[in-house]
Amino acid sequence: STTTLKTSDHLRHVESMSTLPSGAGPISRLNAVILGESLASEEDHLVFPSEAFSMQAHVPSPQKYLETYARSIEDPAGFWSEMASGFFWKERWGPQVYAENLDIRKGKINIEWFKGGITNLCYNCLDRIIESGDGDKIAIFWEGNEPGFDGTLTYKQLLARVCQLANWLKDVGVRKGDAVVIYLPMLMELPISMLACSRIGAVHSVVFAGFSAESLAQRIMDCKPKVVITCNAVRRGSKIIYLKDIVDAALAESARNGNPLDVCLTYENESAMKRESTKWQEGRDIWWQDVVPKHPTTCAVEWVDAEDPLFLLYTSGSTGKPKGVLHTTGGYMVYTATTFKYAFDYKPSDVYWCTADCGWITGHSYVTYGPLLNGATAVVFEGAPNYPDAGRCWDIVDKFKVSIFYTAPTLVRSLMREGDQYVTRYSRKSLRVLGSVGEPINPSAWRWYFNVVGESRCPISDTWWQTETGGFMITPLPGAWPQKPGSATFPFFGVQPVIVDEKGAEIEGECSGYLCVKSSWPSAFRTLYGDHERYEATYFSAFPGYYFTGDGCTRDKDGYYWLTGRVDDVINVSGHRIGTAEVESALVSHPQCAEAAVVGVEHEVKGQGIYAFVTLVESVLYSEDLRRSLILTVRNQIGAFAAPDKIHWAPGLPKTRSGKIMRRILRKIASRQLDELGDTSTLADPSVVDELIKLVDC
Ligand code: WTA
Repeated sequence: STTTLKTSDHLRHVESMSTLPSGAGPISRLNAVILGESLASEEDHLVFPSEAFSMQAHVPSPQKYLETYARSIEDPAGFWSEMASGFFWKERWGPQVYAENLDIRKGKINIEWFKGGITNLCYNCLDRIIESGDGDKIAIFWEGNEPGFDGTLTYKQLLARVCQLANWLKDVGVRKGDAVVIYLPMLMELPISMLACSRIGAVHSVVFAGFSAESLAQRIMDCKPKVVITCNAVRRGSKIIYLKDIVDAALAESARNGNPLDVCLTYENESAMKRESTKWQEGRDIWWQDVVPKHPTTCAVEWVDAEDPLFLLYTSGSTGKPKGVLHTTGGYMVYTATTFKYAFDYKPSDVYWCTADCGWITGHSYVTYGPLLNGATAVVFEGAPNYPDAGRCWDIVDKFKVSIFYTAPTLVRSLMREGDQYVTRYSRKSLRVLGSVGEPINPSAWRWYFNVVGESRCPISDTWWQTETGGFMITPLPGAWPQKPGSATFPFFGVQPVIVDEKGAEIEGECSGYLCVKSSWPSAFRTLYGDHERYEATYFSAFPGYYFTGDGCTRDKDGYYWLTGRVDDVINVSGHRIGTAEVESALVSHPQCAEAAVVGVEHEVKGQGIYAFVTLVESVLYSEDLRRSLILTVRNQIGAFAAPDKIHWAPGLPKTRSGKIMRRILRKIASRQLDELGDTSTLADPSVVDELIKLVDC
């Protein structure tokens, strides 16, 4: 296996390091690895890139990385100005490239990049690429749920479609700064809708089409869009999901709460459902196909300030209410494009496929914006990766000659379980770089991905980042340095991760603690929509002076970063972020549930599963029917992806005398570490723990 070290590769690295700058901050330990000081250690399992790969890479050596990184930290303004000058700016930004205050003790948290710069993201994604002569290059290869059902759009065609929708949006009164909610599956119309909004300066808020009516309504009521864009139905695998019904219910709920909506643009997704069978509200609902194609295929750009809002994306936090993460235009543009180029070693001849849905941040930054800003050809896939069988991904890879494939560990693990034959049946010879995102990738899944899928020739970019960060923060740069399976390796240019202890003191060298970031980067989120105080309280108060990520992290003796998972009340199920409080509030909305406590528990495929302890109202007995109905309540309130894997009947919950639920104990019970419960004497009623243990397999 290639996870063993090749001496020749090693020597080459040592040679390339001979003129290394010293003291490049936390990553200077990388030198030691390269110089061979730590190679003896078995558990490091260094995986070196091939010489051929490194030679053609944007960042061919650790040395080149260290130089560029050092420059990006010493002179962020100069570094990012240079990156930004590759884009079209109607007017250049002001003399101050960025302004920041990340220290709550010094006043209001504030981050600005390229302020005063006038640009447009859609223009940079499409018009700029067309003007450079690549208008006939394919922007999107679309693959439908059914094999053989596909389509393509060149950059010119995509621009024409975007302009038609942009013109329609303007026609119905959408103006700069207005919100538009997009609730669509992975049709081409999803990126088209995002781009049309950005063209006219409207703020899109994409809601993942797996969210329930209740969740959609909550988001609509928070951002009060002028228009909702959806489709009537979609096929996913062998199932049909009636999206328009969900939207109808959400709009009804929103209207009941005093927020009626005037316009619902509905795409007729004929392959799933004919328009005749779709429920319709005259006056409000409009078929996309009836109006959009009638509009002109050119549309003047709305020039916006770099700091004008681009989109809102709701994400889970530690309270029940989702947070509207707000990203602005200029810094987001520069950062997503730059990270895409370097972290995937992107070249114009690549065909890129990210399996994420545009309903999540990964789909925003690395399905739509990052690739288009680089003039890339990207695959957009509507279906399910295991339909019609577990070989579908590799079928698509061969079909479009995908060279960069980016997915989540949960998919890797589930395909790994199906067996190698689904992979090896396909050639995959086009693959050159693999990517991973959403949760820590365990070393065994990493190895399978590397050895079987990538035939040991494709570096793996394990990209650590968040909805809040907008783009990659800690990520390998393929070809630059040896990898360690399961480590996201080193920070991207301009990013200064720090690990702090409980008291917020920075810890140097080899250590574990809370992952924070010192100083801003261009695509940092600027606020939580309508709640700057919550923004400051959630992210900047725990460890004053830093942005707190919510993740735990270890830095090993070689300076490699290892993400160890969330340290707050957020769980990560199949790479989807779910707040335990959201699931709890869904459960207690069930008339027979008095109280609920949800914890994450290790899950072989999903990474984490949802484990719910429920206390029932007086005199109700737990039953199989009740279990099902509790799960159904969560599906209805949040979405199927948040359904608990296990319901544990809890006549009482372990609480401190002040009434705080002791989740530490619940986590141990959930993971069946019953002999590691620790001290239970501080509980108001220690006997509830014995009760819970008795009901473990109930
Ligand atoms: C987790 C997804 C380990 C992490 C882009 C983070 C990861 C949360 C990785 C953000 C990774 C994401 N290794 N953990 N490569 N990528 N995470 O906002 O806990 O949906 O805080 O953004 O996912 O999830 P979000």
